Amino acid sequence: MKNLLVTGGAGFIGSNFVIYMLDKYTDYNITVYDKLTYAGNLDNLLGVADDPRYSFVKGDICDAAAVTAAVKEHNIDTIVNFAAETHVDRSIMDPDAFVKTSVYGTYVLLEVTRELGLERFHQISTDEVYGHIPFGQSSVETDSLEPRSPYAASKASADLMVKAYFVTYGLPVTITRGSNNIGPYQYPEKVIPLFATNAIDGEPLPVYGDGRQMREYQYVVDHCEAIDLVLHKGVLGEAYNIGTGEEMENMEMVQILLEAMGKSHDLIRHVADRPGHDRRYSLNIGKIKALGWQPRHTAEEAIIKTARWYEANEWWWRKIKSGEFKKYYQAQYGKRLAEAG
Ligand code: NAD
Ligand code: DAU
Repeated sequence: MKNLLVTGGAGFIGSNFVIYMLDKYTDYNITVYDKLTYAGNLDNLLGVADDPRYSFVKGDICDAAAVTAAVKEHNIDTIVNFAAETHVDRSIMDPDAFVKTSVYGTYVLLEVTRELGLERFHQISTDEVYGHIPFGQSSVETDSLEPRSPYAASKASADLMVKAYFVTYGLPVTITRGSNNIGPYQYPEKVIPLFATNAIDGEPLPVYGDGRQMREYQYVVDHCEAIDLVLHKGVLGEAYNIGTGEEMENMEMVQILLEAMGKSHDLIRHVADRPGHDRRYSLNIGKIKALGWQPRHTAEEAIIKTARWYEANEWWWRKIKSGEFKKYYQAQYGKRLAEAG
């Protein structure tokens, strides 16, 4: 493993992964292959833009010829696939791109891996593939996949295709299923960057329903370390959960965020809930811990560190929030916030 193609590497987790890997492995070369959708942003990669071990190719993972050309040109031996449409609310509004990228696109990457005999294909998956988890239970990697949103279903479909390529063709694959990541460069449609940037501007924080849904908020670089470990020590054909084991209600997350930022709790607005909202995810992380990993940040530390980053990096998010985002925000929250008063 030396020459990596990081698909979706201009997005939130992908860019953090590229920065982390180039810093850690001085002899690795990384090619980012990214379509640059609304969520892809080359500003995320400014810190490595002049590194001779880094290169960028603009392309769609659904385009087999373009992926093949990039793999050949950059002598790629390993594909790490972050590319996906990733926002649950957008998948409810319009699932089309979710199916295309995660289902067909993942298939294209698997075919290229097979045809060119690459050393490894690694799929970045999510805890959402397990669906809502009742209290008292937590998901292990062998559990059945019970996705409930179009986003989660597109990711579960990709996992099944990856598994099928392992069983049928003996393809050298691994999968990681992460919980909610937070940290630098997360597009401000996701709850924590949305709430942090709204709070800075004195805008309301739209909490869905009663806000008692539970998530495992983890710091993005911790997640990157675990992916690195699975790439180097993971067993082929296996999936690994990556989370904190520490679940938190959204209302608690909001309180921590507002306290950290010194902002008033009056900014909180309870608005109409997300349709089909999964109430709780909970990962059993025994398998990744047994491989030698544990998170470096608690959820609270991750939330505070993330708030500090958005406070210090208005240059990054202000231009995003003034573009396509405004139309999305109005469609997603206009009526809800008006009804909440
Ligand atoms: P993101 O939305 O910030 O970035 C996605 C990236 O993929 C963007 O750069 C986008 O341009 C690119 N992309 C989208 N469609 C593409 C296509 N057809 N071809 C090439 N590039 C394309 O996403 P993220 O939050 O960084 O998530 C990355 C991966 O991690 C996704 O697979 C997601 O499902 C998974 N994941 C995310 C989280 C989380 O909390 N954010 C948690 C677990 C797993
Ligand atoms: O669990 C991993 C998943 O985490 C990833 O696979 C997804 O790509 C990522 O988007 C994220 O999904 P969630 O739906 O959990 O994240 P989101 O930030 O959208 O929402 C987190 C929680 O906050 C969820 O319970 C919904 C709630 N929420 C979200 C938004 C955007 C609100 O209450 N208000 C909001 O405005």
